[in-house]
Amino acid sequence: MFRVNVLASLAPRWRRELWETVRSTGTSAMHRLGVAALLLTFLLGVATFLAMISYWRQEAGGNWSDARNVSVRDRVRRLRRQRRIDWSACHVLLTGGSRGIGLEVAKLLVSGAREAGGMAPARLTIVGRNMQRLEEAKTTLELLAQDRCQSGGTVVHAAAADVSQPAEVERLFREAPRPFDVVICCAGGARPGHFEAFTAQDFSDQMAQNFYSAALVAQAVFRQWKQDTLEQWQRERRPKPDASGRATDGQPPARHVVLLSSMAAMAAIYGYAAYAPAKYAVRALGECLVYEGRPYGITVSVAYPPDTDTPGLAEENVGKPLITRRCSEASAGPPFSAARVARALLRGVTRKQFWIVFGLDGYLLGALNEGFAPRGFSLCKALLMPILRCSVPFYMYLYNRIIDQETEHLFGER
Ligand SMILES: NC(=O)c1ccc[n+]([C@@H]2O[C@H](COP(=O)([O-])OP(=O)(O)OC[C@H]3O[C@@H](n4cnc5c(N)ncnc54)[C@H](OP(=O)(O)O)[C@@H]3O)[C@@H](O)[C@H]2O)c1
Repeated sequence: MFRVNVLASLAPRWRRELWETVRSTGTSAMHRLGVAALLLTFLLGVATFLAMISYWRQEAGGNWSDARNVSVRDRVRRLRRQRRIDWSACHVLLTGGSRGIGLEVAKLLVSGAREAGGMAPARLTIVGRNMQRLEEAKTTLELLAQDRCQSGGTVVHAAAADVSQPAEVERLFREAPRPFDVVICCAGGARPGHFEAFTAQDFSDQMAQNFYSAALVAQAVFRQWKQDTLEQWQRERRPKPDASGRATDGQPPARHVVLLSSMAAMAAIYGYAAYAPAKYAVRALGECLVYEGRPYGITVSVAYPPDTDTPGLAEENVGKPLITRRCSEASAGPPFSAARVARALLRGVTRKQFWIVFGLDGYLLGALNEGFAPRGFSLCKALLMPILRCSVPFYMYLYNRIIDQETEHLFGER
């Protein structure tokens, strides 16, 4: 069937010749396979060669003779450097930076952690709704920044805003002392419950807290960056940023957006009927933004944290159905510490990974979920996918058993 389809797409003359070649080489299946492998290798070789030429031309700003003057070692070094975020030149906006995962990320940033390549950003703006919490976080961060650097290190700002409200996001960007270079959208939170108990307002609140809070901030910064890129191009006729978001010499630092989704957007379970759809929306947003940002050199990361020990999780646990708690514990184990999640998050962001997952469970679930994700392809994960798929019935059995056990008493004896 496959053979017929491939041959049908070729011109009749080519088709005849190809078929004759295959026949003359031998009629056994092994011979045909060998010819097909040779053809494929040849095509891959041509594609690799063309890709190398196009890369070198691009490195030399389109001038082939310049490209030849750059040694391969320099090229590899430059590529590695450009693929990572140079935090030292950045103004970072961190929504949800006053506690939980956001605050841990902020601490690592201002102390120039190894996960950030040993660099601390020039400026950091943390955002939350509660001003007192923000001030406390700001004091902690300033002390850490001073410890790291006698001259004060990172300049920390605290801005109170509800980022699920368009007017407040607009004000946040208007009042920013300098444009942002990296935006990390950590604001959010879960409200689990039984589906029938949610009100329309609950659904809307979960979308606002998780999706709007990320979408509005990402949209505001996209507007700014896209306009800046076009204006700069018109003014200076500078080459536009690399589509992969690499900052080339003389260009502004990385323009990178980080969205926090959740493991519940890879495996939605009982009790998350309002939260999981909002986090799925964040996941879809990230996938769209990869394409939207490409012409302007804007890159995107989407992170999928598991249960993490934060004040947010403590609040979430108060009203969490027992089934949800048991299912989470049975499949993902005890919560991760916020510091562990922040370290892995920052490592992924510094490398501009599109798909950021946590721990072995996260890796395997990520491999199962990547599917049509626009970036982050790995051959290993693609090969793992069908094998991992075989484990899904086991988890379904586990969840169904817990659900049956916890709901049995509702129906009584038959
Ligand atoms: N912890 C987990 O188990 C877990 C698992 C998966 C995903 N996540 C996601 O990871 C992110 C951080 O979670 P977390 O557990 O660290 O949360 P957290 O401890 O509750 O902290 C949330 C932070 O976001 C801020 N925030 C919330 N809504 C906001 C809004 N509308 N505008 C501005 N700031 C807002 C909060 O400050 P104010 O309250 O002062 O506004 C706080 O600084 C969230 O997006 C969450 O959904 C968490």
